[in-house]
Amino acid sequence: MCPGSFDPVTHGHLDIIGRSSHLYDEVVVAVLINKSKASLFSVEERIDMLREVTSEYGNVRVDSFYGLLVDYCRSHEIPVVVKGLRAVSDFDYELQMAQMNHDLAGVETMFMATNPTYSFLSSSLVKEVANFGGDVSGLVPAYVLERLLRRLAERR
Ligand code: PNS
Repeated sequence: MCPGSFDPVTHGHLDIIGRSSHLYDEVVVAVLINKSKASLFSVEERIDMLREVTSEYGNVRVDSFYGLLVDYCRSHEIPVVVKGLRAVSDFDYELQMAQMNHDLAGVETMFMATNPTYSFLSSSLVKEVANFGGDVSGLVPAYVLERLLRRLAERR
């Protein structure tokens, strides 16, 4: 399981998803439905982008979930969550979530060190930079870039 908000998916996410797909028989990429967090793209749009950019991986499936991650894992018999760690600053909160998820349902978390090329990357920064005209073409797949620029233009 590779969970996240994916608003939108970046090369950093894809790095973790692609490497996970080589390690595990099947990978589920699951978009959190979070009604209290404003997003640039709807859940359906995020799923569509994820499906497009992961289509080369035969063992990756994209889905969404609402509520607790461990409930989704339990109901789909998923034993492992993979999380990318960009820097030490990610670690505290990720460790807390990993321990909670293990305590709640015995779900294991595997931390994968991100490719250093993407260690500064986040969806939030991509959106902010793109919104002010910065070049994010090296940070997201071309399909996502096109949709991102279109959405930001619509919002102006
Ligand atoms: O891309 P994000 O926003 O950093 O992803 C965070 C996510 C979705 C992985 C995390 O918030 C999560 O698992 N949320 C589901 C709700 C849940 O299970 N909360 C308890 C965590 S211990």
